Amino acid sequence: MQVTDLLTTDIPENGSKGFECNGEKYFAVKKQNQIYIYKNSCPHIGIALEWVEDQFLDSSCTMIQCANHGALFVIENGACVAGPCSGQKLKAIRFNVENDAIYLAI
Ligand code: FES
Repeated sequence: MQVTDLLTTDIPENGSKGFECNGEKYFAVKKQNQIYIYKNSCPHIGIALEWVEDQFLDSSCTMIQCANHGALFVIENGACVAGPCSGQKLKAIRFNVENDAIYLAI
């Protein structure tokens, strides 16, 4: 388990937050008080998804969106359902929470 400097309280409800751990980029999404964490690497060409800091969701905040070419991903499982990497998935990261601190299983 790798400790991060991200607290569960740093992630807004229906929002997202980017962070780094061990020099790698990740992002977290909170939906209905549930947290999902993915590697910040689009399966299309392996670059970071966001153009604006901490903005990983579409305008309705119901899907993860890659700012580069508009791919849309399901928040709960990272599956790409539209765009150039349709059928592929974001890499989901398992994690633990202790006293609001987030530890990644990497
Ligand atoms: S890099 Fe994400 S859709 Fe192209």
